[in-house]
Amino acid sequence: MTSDEIRKAYLDFFKGRGHVIVPSESLVPENDPTTLFTGSGMQPMLRYLLGESHPSGKRICDSQKCFRAQDIEEVGDNRHTTFFEMLGNWSLGDYFKKEQISWMFEFLTKVLGLYPGNIYVSVFRGNEKLKLPRDDESVGIWQEVFKEAGIKAKAVDFAEKNGMQGGRIFYYDERKNWWSRTGTPEEMPLGEPGGPDSEMFWDFGDELNIHENSPYKDKLCHINCDCGRFLEIGNNVFMEYLKTESGFSLLPQKNVDFGGGLERMVAAQNNQPDIFKTDVFNDLVSKIRELAGEIEVSAVRVFADHLRAASVCLLSL
Ligand code: ALA
Repeated sequence: MTSDEIRKAYLDFFKGRGHVIVPSESLVPENDPTTLFTGSGMQPMLRYLLGESHPSGKRICDSQKCFRAQDIEEVGDNRHTTFFEMLGNWSLGDYFKKEQISWMFEFLTKVLGLYPGNIYVSVFRGNEKLKLPRDDESVGIWQEVFKEAGIKAKAVDFAEKNGMQGGRIFYYDERKNWWSRTGTPEEMPLGEPGGPDSEMFWDFGDELNIHENSPYKDKLCHINCDCGRFLEIGNNVFMEYLKTESGFSLLPQKNVDFGGGLERMVAAQNNQPDIFKTDVFNDLVSKIRELAGEIEVSAVRVFADHLRAASVCLLSL
């Protein structure tokens, strides 16, 4: 499928489940001092996640233009960009984990046609000190949907020294599986909403030897390994907490904040580990190669990303 087809399929899928499609907001955020550019689909949704009624109702979806300056040093590998389109859907005090996880699994496996055996997920391990519970509820739902697809999904606590351990669902701590605009629970300022998240990864498989040919080859591979074998294609944030003086309280409503990089979904759907070899970048990369001649792959990717990002930033002014 092309990027246009995948964007449309995603929006249609959620429209069919009662969501109103809204346009992308500007790349320059309004009334949001946390970032210079909009870096996630939830930023324009903040006040609705905190409880204000959204004019379009409780179920919203979109494709938001995003720019993440903090990822600029990562650009050059097979999957990082500064600018990207984030496909997003939100429940503003409506459905929660059961619907979100089942729908995402259905979208990935039935609409995009991804083979369920190559999908892996992570969940929040919990933090006793912060009184934030382990997300066993999401694990149960993931196990159910994998079971329906004929897969017994073992859940394991991730530990670097153990690698994959035959697992399908991995518990990670708040550095990986907690989401707020400002980072981990400790980093959140008072009044900031956040929550545990569950990320989904596409496995390009061991036949390609991606890990073995990477700088990480001497370490054990796992779904959050930086080698590029596993590609994070979406993040389900269960945004139900508010940072308070004494720790965390529950928000007045339970929200879902889903975000998935369109470019990465295209790569997974085409089983193409290099997002710069998808239809999103093909023309740009060909032109760069024509003009620059023989230059390193990472340099081509940096040119492609920065040219695209700079163009979209200029158009947003
Ligand atoms: N807000 C979440 C993210 O940006 C979905 O990853």
